[in-house]
Amino acid sequence: MTPISKTVKGEKFDLALIGGSVVDPQLGIIDKAVVFVKDGKFLAIETKPETIKRALAGASPKSIIDVSGLLVTPGLIDIHVHLREPGREDEETIHSGASAAAAGGFTSICCMPNTNPVIDNQETVRFVLSEAAEAVCRVFVVGAISKGSKGEELSEIGDLVKAGVVAISDDGIFLQNPDLMRRALEYARMFDITIMQHSEDNFLVRGGVMNESFESARLGMRGRPAVAEEIAVLRDIQLAAFTGGKVHVQHVSAAGSVEAIRRAKKEGVRITAEACPHHFTLTDTEIRKEFNTNLRVNPPLRTEADVEAIIGGLVDGTIDCIATDHAPHSAEEKDCEFDLAPPGMVGLETALGLVKTRLIDKGYLSWPDAIQKMTSNPARIVNLPLGDFTIGRAADITVIDPEASWKVDPLEFKSRSANTPFDGWELSGKPVMTIRGGEITHSSLSASKKKSSAN
Ligand code: DOR
Repeated sequence: MTPISKTVKGEKFDLALIGGSVVDPQLGIIDKAVVFVKDGKFLAIETKPETIKRALAGASPKSIIDVSGLLVTPGLIDIHVHLREPGREDEETIHSGASAAAAGGFTSICCMPNTNPVIDNQETVRFVLSEAAEAVCRVFVVGAISKGSKGEELSEIGDLVKAGVVAISDDGIFLQNPDLMRRALEYARMFDITIMQHSEDNFLVRGGVMNESFESARLGMRGRPAVAEEIAVLRDIQLAAFTGGKVHVQHVSAAGSVEAIRRAKKEGVRITAEACPHHFTLTDTEIRKEFNTNLRVNPPLRTEADVEAIIGGLVDGTIDCIATDHAPHSAEEKDCEFDLAPPGMVGLETALGLVKTRLIDKGYLSWPDAIQKMTSNPARIVNLPLGDFTIGRAADITVIDPEASWKVDPLEFKSRSANTPFDGWELSGKPVMTIRGGEITHSSLSASKKKSSAN
């Protein structure tokens, strides 16, 4: 349980968010609570009107932000993001990706190692971390499991951990060799880090560009069957059980995987999982409705039954967190035949709106449940001391307008890429202010709201 301080104990504060509803991932919604910040850290979450009045009396109006009618949550955390630096800075840089994250309400992101060069050594980790030092979002690095993510030889995992990686992954490709995965799990266990796995058997998906189904047959496209994911997940469950290591299943897309993870969790296997907004929103039928290469993604969009299973997994906790798999690709590269387009879609700036519109508005998740899956749960998977309102922790905060309706316009994205299949979608729920360590990193809150209302 997040400890909530009941008073401000007469201490001066630098920032107070007043009038909003605090969404605590564990405690639920606390109406009209005031969040006090000092020296970039949480000082107190106060609910008593008298104490609040006393604390605000005489405070500088500049330090008070009126967030009435809005939700105040811990800063959102996305543990699955592709920044394209080094290598493809035309598609995304560490800075542009961090700005897109801040605009999407995220205060922390984990970047995947499939850059050029691959992040499989200390030097590249240090390069990313040094670039990230000035970025508007916290950027944590996921190192490659195998050298060059080639699946042949393990990276120097201890060196990567020393350089600061928070997890390891060969994302984009499944680590096919079971012996290598076994050794990786044994090493990862020594350092208490998680292996994030792209679970799709490489032999079963070879040449596939969409879900293998009636739809792929009708369109004459080579399929990637759900069983490719299910086999990969089942193998890793066995290896996690055998080694005692921690496996995190990235972008779960198939009903069979959800069921396998559910069973493994019941048996005490150290396994966690994430779902991406596109996998709980879209199905493979979209591909015949319009020609749009932004619908090509790995693992692919699947069927209505898979979407329902993913939502069921989010509801019952089988799926621990929501991550975007933000995968920027240039317009030039996506402007081609469907099967030649690179897989992936951007996601940082549409994630919260899709969670609200698709999961909260339809009654599947409450705000606290959804926020838990975007804050404290992902933080736990990669061992970050973030994601809740613990007093004394970094004051990372997201302010959300739960009822704002807005239209997705990729021209407004902060990302350098615009490859979204959600162009023109009407969504509800928008992050209006992002605060990282007590500093505002993004705001679209109307100026009138920012004025003092200390009385
Ligand atoms: O569609 C995808 N694109 N899936 C991945 O796992 C990798 C990503 C990318 O890097 O573009």
